[in-house]
Amino acid sequence: MRRQSRCARKSDYERQNSRTPESLQTGASTALKEEQPRVNDTGEGAGRGSLLAQPRLVERLEDCYFYHTMDVPGFGLVRGHWDLRGRFDDYVGGVGVSGKTVLDVGAATGFLSFEAERHGASRVLSFDMSDVRQQAFVPFKDKLYYRDYESWAYHHNLIVEKWKNAYWLCHRLLGSKAEAYYGNIYALPPELGEFDVSIVGAVLEHLSDQVTALASIARLTRETLVLVTPLIHTEERVARFEPRADRPEHDFTWWTYSVGLYREILAILGFRIAKVGYSNYYHDYEGRFEERPTLVAVRD
Ligand SMILES: C[S@@+](CC[C@H](N)C(=O)[O-])C[C@H]1O[C@@H](n2cnc3c(N)ncnc32)[C@H](O)[C@@H]1O
Repeated sequence: MRRQSRCARKSDYERQNSRTPESLQTGASTALKEEQPRVNDTGEGAGRGSLLAQPRLVERLEDCYFYHTMDVPGFGLVRGHWDLRGRFDDYVGGVGVSGKTVLDVGAATGFLSFEAERHGASRVLSFDMSDVRQQAFVPFKDKLYYRDYESWAYHHNLIVEKWKNAYWLCHRLLGSKAEAYYGNIYALPPELGEFDVSIVGAVLEHLSDQVTALASIARLTRETLVLVTPLIHTEERVARFEPRADRPEHDFTWWTYSVGLYREILAILGFRIAKVGYSNYYHDYEGRFEERPTLVAVRD
């Protein structure tokens, strides 16, 4: 099984960064306006409205960076890194979301959020980081992250803003009603409410501390956790440290956990593994298929 990260390679980040328009650095672009919030701050979700991100009016593809390959009304097929079109059911391990509330952790372009809606989810919340400082990179000594953290944060933020712009462009053109929250994965606020299903796709391997993040997500999860992440196939409770000193380009993948380790952590959090499945997905950027495991855990 391949162990490569599903996130964009560093060279992609750098390429994107060099193409980031100046206007995005100030948020002053005429193509990017804050829309009036569409959230309702009354009723069951009272108090939640103020936490939610305000929709952005994004009109140009050049202001966006697509992680997911998307069919965007008015623009046609826009290629991203991963083409999950038609693969939602496999990706979420066959977990039904019709009539369920869904938390999409690390939404990126939002493909999984929009698909959850299309599959009948009653409420979808797309979550992503509010500040790039919440994403720890591996501190290779010659990289900007290590040498000049503030410059790194500034440049990386430009890229992450383009990821968010792609989400909002698709959100508007697909007529999505998904809500978005930008915050800290290690401390998701209870005011967001509880979710029947939480989908954590290709996020855990990029975190320096998976356990704290899983606890934060589990606290908001009523029934089912879907974890799409590389796995070591043993019941031993072990984790493999992925960074290698001679491969500084791989600075955003930290740990691969074993099935046994997830089993233990999930039991600590009150969940048990119901299913582990494998499927191949198309890595559009590299033009090949790659196998990904999906682990489904349910509340005990
Ligand atoms: C590789 S993409 C996965 C996108 C989608 N979940 C999927 O499975 O196709 C990783 C996502 O996790 C988010 N992410 C990575 N580290 C994060 C952190 N520390 N806090 C919050 N979000 C994070 C990224 O911003 C991005 O949206």
